[in-house]
Amino acid sequence: TFVYVLNGPNLNLLGTREPEIYGSDTLADIEAALHEQAKGLGLAIDFRQTNHEGQLVDWLHEANSAGAKAVLLNAAAYTHTSIALLDACRAITVPVIEVHLSDPSKREEFRHVSYVGMAAADCVQGLGARSYAVALEKAAAL
Ligand code: DQA
Repeated sequence: TFVYVLNGPNLNLLGTREPEIYGSDTLADIEAALHEQAKGLGLAIDFRQTNHEGQLVDWLHEANSAGAKAVLLNAAAYTHTSIALLDACRAITVPVIEVHLSDPSKREEFRHVSYVGMAAADCVQGLGARSYAVALEKAAAL
């Protein structure tokens, strides 16, 4: 049983990117912790990052056709702009759990809309790196 963990633009810079908002963990730190947690849950994870919107669309399709149990999706800024990601989430049957380190609803107005959220089965946000851990528990429980 496997779960895709897909990360969008600028998340490759975690650790140095606005640490007062996103914390000091790198994406590699988050990936390592998630692999450990997944082992304990009897899951495998496929953890990826891209700065390109269409790549996220392709990976959502792939997760679906590969038979993933769930997708954890931190689409980063594309969350708030991408109808293509909304359509992709609606086009697939694998459940998508939206993830954010910060709580976008408490930040600038332009982060208050989530296209991903319109199609996601669940959302975990505002817990820093722990958002991924809680989302993986939710995926395991699906
Ligand atoms: C983010 C929140 C988004 O608003 C922002 O564009 C990001 C990261 C988060 O994890 O808190 O890049 O998805």
